[in-house]
Amino acid sequence: MKADVVLGLQWGDEGKGKIVDVLTPRYDVIARFQGGPNAGHSLEFNQIKHVLHSIPSGIFHENKVNIIGNGVVIDPVIFRKEVAAINKLGVDLKKSLVISRKAHLILPSHRILDAASEASKGSTKIGSTLKGIGPTYMDKTGRNGMRVGDILQPDFREKYDYLTHKHKELLKQYNYAYNIEQFEEEWFAGVEELRSYPIVDSEFTVNSYLQQGLKVLAEGAQGTMLDIDFGSYPFVTSSNTISAGACTGLGIAPGRIGEVFGVFKAYCTRVGSGPFPTELLDDTGNFLREKGHEYGATTGRPRRCGWLDLVALRYSIMINGVTQLFMTKADVLSDFDEIRICTAYRMKDGVVRELPYDLYDIEEPVYESLAGWKTDVSVVTERGRIPAALTDYIRFIERETGIPVTVVSLGPDRTQIIDLRD
Ligand code: GDP
Ligand code: IMO
Ligand code: MG
Repeated sequence: MKADVVLGLQWGDEGKGKIVDVLTPRYDVIARFQGGPNAGHSLEFNQIKHVLHSIPSGIFHENKVNIIGNGVVIDPVIFRKEVAAINKLGVDLKKSLVISRKAHLILPSHRILDAASEASKGSTKIGSTLKGIGPTYMDKTGRNGMRVGDILQPDFREKYDYLTHKHKELLKQYNYAYNIEQFEEEWFAGVEELRSYPIVDSEFTVNSYLQQGLKVLAEGAQGTMLDIDFGSYPFVTSSNTISAGACTGLGIAPGRIGEVFGVFKAYCTRVGSGPFPTELLDDTGNFLREKGHEYGATTGRPRRCGWLDLVALRYSIMINGVTQLFMTKADVLSDFDEIRICTAYRMKDGVVRELPYDLYDIEEPVYESLAGWKTDVSVVTERGRIPAALTDYIRFIERETGIPVTVVSLGPDRTQIIDLRD
């Protein structure tokens, strides 16, 4: 069996959580492969909206195995809160969640370092979620990090004290006031919670499931334009959000990757700083934000909004080897007479159709206009009832990217989705 992958093709928040939740019944195992609690994956069913940060989005289905893979970074504090919220809904996580021994731990001092680093950058700040992601991945690649497996070792406390001391030394370079003690108590309580779950070498677990013919779905976080190598650097996150990240973040060989489901919004959003070529700083942008409820699931920050960017989308498709496109939030565009799509960028030396090195060099996006569908598609449940103008929008995207759009999501609820292949 091969593992299929769900990942974001834009700047995150494409609706990956909802898509994973909807696909879960067709799989046996759901495995998060990178990122940490900077992610906020929303799911809606039975009038309940739930936001997941570190726990895979398959958790609300019975008899599935959910794995937090080695590529993920875990904050025990947030993990414990997340568990409590899910338990309240009657889900027994002890039966359905396993955690990689090799996943790295976010320490209280990582969070403080993140905040101190951002504060020192002033106007050039990344707009981080301040969850300690950057410093934790820095310690991982710097070979200083602590892993979940360490919490089972007798020298755990010494390791913690040693790394925290190192961070306190680092913090001296910043003129940043902090109080670490306030975080430590809840951090150690979170570690106790983590200890009560199966902590495994999940690369063996995943590969043995695949060997047995079980179906594995790998869940990405963030989006391709936030990838550490291929995103809009330095305004990115600190992990590989792309399909290759599913290999390194779970221990799956490239040849064992099957379908790559690329999720994108019918328009674009970005939260945090950095270039955003199709950003709309006008009433249209404000309209998209309000109609689409574009406020961060993790931080509550307003998301910047703009038209769909096919230059960035084609790039993301290339980097990920996307086999099927899943489009979300087309319902948010229901009121427009005219919808614009960026197909190229105008640069100083002419028009380009490929993503340039520095997105700040783009003078303006080149748009094509398509007719809007002017009808509320959030109530559409059958393929045959999709308005012609929306079908034209989809066909245009397919022609420009060369990849089929196989699923359209038309609202936040689990039921608001149409599989175009049915
Ligand atoms: P993720 O990080 O990729 O999982 O996405 P988020 O959960 O951060 O943001 C997506 C937001 O859009 C959430 O509030 C979802 O409930 C919502 N959503 C997902 N799909 C749709 C859709 O097709 N239409 C609408 N209107 N909302 C959607
Ligand atoms: P999901 O999985 C949207 C953004 C932050 C910031 C940059 C770096 O919900 O799609 P970090 O906290 O990683 O240091 O922040 O990346 N960012 C996200 N934006 N969705 C996310 O996750 C994001 N995770 C990080 O806003 O610009
Ligand atoms: Mg999100």
